[in-house]
Amino acid sequence: MLTFIWAQDKDGYIGKDNTMPWRLPADLQHFKKETNGHTIVMGRKTYESIGKALPNRENLVLTRDPNYSLADAKVLYDKAEVLEIARDKQVYITGGAEIYRLFLEDADALVVTHVEAYCGGDTIFPEFDWQNWRLVKREDGVRDEKNDLDYWYGWYEKKTHA
Ligand SMILES: NC(=O)c1ccc[n+]([C@@H]2O[C@H](COP(=O)([O-])OP(=O)(O)OC[C@H]3O[C@@H](n4cnc5c(N)ncnc54)[C@H](OP(=O)(O)O)[C@@H]3O)[C@@H](O)[C@H]2O)c1
Repeated sequence: MLTFIWAQDKDGYIGKDNTMPWRLPADLQHFKKETNGHTIVMGRKTYESIGKALPNRENLVLTRDPNYSLADAKVLYDKAEVLEIARDKQVYITGGAEIYRLFLEDADALVVTHVEAYCGGDTIFPEFDWQNWRLVKREDGVRDEKNDLDYWYGWYEKKTHA
């Protein structure tokens, strides 16, 4: 089972200067709660922007560099290795844009934080057809002094075409 998890603004921006274009600590907690205890897959650039493996999760990092190695995460070189791992467990694809693009056709479910603002950025979520996805649950984010934007969480499943 392959689940995409990401946060985007109203234009689809997901990144700026190798970090998030907004400050939403509540979304980071949401990410932690969703992925806790599971396997997460990220690109080498996203791993380096975080700077370390995320605790309590199996961290898989994709690179094309055969000499790349990490002490705190498993390095993979091929998409097929991830698909094999996802055959019998829950795997979250956690970005960034290159990695979402790579697995776009393989996603079974989505967990999306919709930031209801125009934040701008330099990295945008790949072109995506929302028509193929059904919103099965939504939850409004709490706006407060630490999370000073409107945002909501959406859980989507893939529509099956008979
Ligand atoms: N808003 C969100 O939810 C969210 C989530 C995650 C990340 N982000 C943001 O996204 C940005 C980073 O995204 P990005 O697209 O620049 O980088 P990325 O997807 O994190 O990493 C790209 C790297 O992945 C490796 N890679 C790509 N395709 C591969 C393949 N087919 N096989 C093996 N390895 C492959 C390559 O590593 P090598 O160059 O080492 O070969 C490539 O340079 C940052 O701004 C980050 O903050 C946002």
